[in-house]
This record gives sequence, C-alpha cells and structure tokens, in this order.
Amino acid sequence: MDATREAWARADAFLTETLIGPDAGLDAALAAQRAAGMPPIEVTPLAGKLLHLLVRISGARRVLEIGTLGGYSTIWMARAVGEAGRVVTVEALAAHAAVARASVDAAGVGERVDIRVGRGAEVLPTLVPGFDLVFIDADKESGTLYLDWAARLGHPGTVVIVDNIGRAGEIVRADSDDPMVAGTRDALRMLGEHPRFDATALQTVGAKGWDGLAVAVVI
Ligand code: DHB
Ligand code: MG
Repeated sequence: MDATREAWARADAFLTETLIGPDAGLDAALAAQRAAGMPPIEVTPLAGKLLHLLVRISGARRVLEIGTLGGYSTIWMARAVGEAGRVVTVEALAAHAAVARASVDAAGVGERVDIRVGRGAEVLPTLVPGFDLVFIDADKESGTLYLDWAARLGHPGTVVIVDNIGRAGEIVRADSDDPMVAGTRDALRMLGEHPRFDATALQTVGAKGWDGLAVAVVI
C-alpha cells in the first residue's frame, strides 16, 4: 500500500477529475487567490462539493461562513442556496475580502453573497439570527467562540461544519504547544459535551494531507 501524501493527492486528483472536472468560476477564483499571494489553504474541490451538497441536502437557504479567504468555498455554497438564498461570509482581512468579492461576482453569484469584513468576535454579534447552515473555517484558536455563535445564530436543525479538525493527528499529541491544536481540541470537546450540539467527525486524507471535518446539528 502506498500511503504517502503523494498517493493521497493522486487519488484526490482522480476523484476530482471523475466527479467534478474543470469549472470556470471556481478555477478563476483559485487563480485570483494564488495571484494575490494568499495561502493555498482553501478547501479541496471534493470538500467544496461536499459543502455544496450538504447545503442542498439540508435545504439550507441562509448560510453563514466564518473565514472567507478567497471565496472558493463561498462560491460552492452560494451555488447551492438557490436564487433567493444568501451566504453571509465573515473575513478578518480586507485584502482577502476584496479578492473574494471579485471572484464571487465573476462566478455569477455575487448577489447571493454578503461579505462582512472584520474579526468574528466583532462581526458575529451584529448578524441577524436564523442561519440554516454554518461553515467554520477561520482561526483555529477561536473555535469555541465560533461554535457558540453558530448555536446562537442557528436554530434547532442547523447544520454546523468545522474544517481542519484532524491537523495531521496533532489533536492527540499531548505535548503540542500549538494554540491551533489546543483550540481545535477545545472545539471538539465542546461539540461532544455541549447540550446544543450533536456531532461527529471524519478524518480525511487527500490533496491537503491528513486532516478532517466535523459535522454537527444544533439541538
Ligand atoms: C490552516 C487553516 C485552514 O483553514 C486549513 O484548511 C488548513 C490550514 C492553517 O491555518 O494552518
Ligand atoms: Mg480550512
């Protein structure tokens, strides 16, 4: 068995070609993000499509994203909410938000996307509750804060997805002094213990290495 990172990436490329293929809007968004020198940490195409399908399967019409980056996952979800649906996406860095604005507009879903610039702690308290699906993909140190807002801004039945819960297995390294690992662990414990969440998590390997996603429902 070839269980290297390269092998995971090759298999991911095959699955992406087979199930997704080229996509002008998404490919342009990635090119714009790379040209702007932003970190290449957006969700993979396969994970983006999973987000898209979770929005469709759940029938979510109001989606909240915490962590816009270049708008790649935003476009995937905006395509799934329907004409009358909306994605509110929160981005701490104005430069990232500007790239995302141009990319969601170019992808033809600009009217469905409301980009709010600022840190989650400042922006989230200003949002109108009633989100049907929340995707958390921002600074890992603030995971419990974002989950708390997901519960407040959601309703029973709201779907909550958290990116990067595996961190290459670092979540179980007892001597880790990485605040992103501590924040991720705290978020996972909150999902396990908090009376308003019922959750699971899946580890993933693929183009981004070894990581994972948590999926929860608000009770
Ligand atoms: C990091 C953040 C992400 O959202 C991601 O998907 C991968 C890595 C990071 O900050 O290291
Ligand atoms: Mg991520």
